[in-house]
Amino acid sequence: MASKLLQLKSKACEASKFVSKHGTTYYKQLLEKNKHYIQEPATVEKCNELSKQLLYTRLASIPGRTELFWKEVDHVKGLWKNRADLKVEDAGIAALFGLECFAWYCAVKDQKLRLKHSGTLSLSRSFFVISLLLSVLECVLGKETAIAMAKDEAKASDFSKGLLQSEELYKYILETSVYPREPEALKELRSVTHNHPMANMATAPDAGQLMEMLLNLVNARKTIEVGVFTGYSLLLTALTLPEDGKVIAIDVNRSTYEIGLPVIKKAGVEDKIDFRESEALPVLDELLNHKENEGGFDFAFVDADKVSYWNYHERLVRLIKVGGIIVYDNTLWGGSVAEPDSSTPEGKREGKKAILDLNKKLSADKRVQISQAALGDGITICRRLC
Ligand SMILES: C[S@@+](CC[C@H](N)C(=O)[O-])C[C@H]1O[C@@H](n2cnc3c(N)ncnc32)[C@H](O)[C@@H]1O
Repeated sequence: MASKLLQLKSKACEASKFVSKHGTTYYKQLLEKNKHYIQEPATVEKCNELSKQLLYTRLASIPGRTELFWKEVDHVKGLWKNRADLKVEDAGIAALFGLECFAWYCAVKDQKLRLKHSGTLSLSRSFFVISLLLSVLECVLGKETAIAMAKDEAKASDFSKGLLQSEELYKYILETSVYPREPEALKELRSVTHNHPMANMATAPDAGQLMEMLLNLVNARKTIEVGVFTGYSLLLTALTLPEDGKVIAIDVNRSTYEIGLPVIKKAGVEDKIDFRESEALPVLDELLNHKENEGGFDFAFVDADKVSYWNYHERLVRLIKVGGIIVYDNTLWGGSVAEPDSSTPEGKREGKKAILDLNKKLSADKRVQISQAALGDGITICRRLC
């Protein structure tokens, strides 16, 4: 018995060493991976914006969490029914659950006290109260209502890159000119993308609306898209192209494309899409290996890997026909292009340098006519001249 205890002790010791070694590495990796989310400089406006985003994310996740909650309740009910065969692990889980409830109880009590002694609600307190309300909401609201609320509330803040005078102005543009004309399929795609941690990568709907007009103006039939993500701009393109139109869509990551694929299929435009899971440059080079592709495309949209934008341009300017259009996204880089480097977060400086370089080169490129518009994150429209 004593030797068994010793063995157990040494195993526990090994396990704790393993956890502390690998746990710290994992934690460091996680911090490294997420450091680009850090917002600098930290301002009250940014805190406000972040708390709003968190609120909307919570709202949108209600349907999923409601199901999970009821599953957990069922599981607990089952455990209680068969309590005679309860195992040690189950008791452990129940203890943890109890602890969690106790922590919530303490937090609520503390909150109540603070609310009683303070005339004004601080941001964190009001957010806490909202969180509690949401928890109640998630139990009473139906799935559809919750999704609809998340969709309605999250509109402007999802896409604003702060380029306009105010968030209200952006909201006004979206609600007056963009959303009323946005096809249902695109609304649905925005909704399925909304919960993705990188949802703000999706093309802004106002920029999308201009793209749609440009596609129509050049009667686009053959197009190229670099950077698909969940497919907002891709679906928009496929919906705008004629029946026999084709878009070559390139992205290194197929899994995000698959998030939007059911919506694309439902819209009946999957056949117009030739998706290539690859780095963009080799695909563009391969297209140029075939003489007939030179000047063979009407339109291109570039929204991936900013440091390669100029390399893409050198290829696209040959692939697009004279009179055709190339659109580059993110050319104002959140407004940072006109700010000193010290105000740009470290993680965004490389992209900023590439965008500054691109903007300068495009401005001097006589092969194209250009127009830079403060839509979305800034887009530059290039029309091939020769
Ligand atoms: C900003 S998102 C594209 C958003 C998309 N236009 C939309 O409307 O949702 C950028 C995408 O580019 C892809 N990407 C990044 N580097 C790439 C590369 N070198 N070649 C191809 N795709 C790349 C990423 O996987 C990501 O899905």
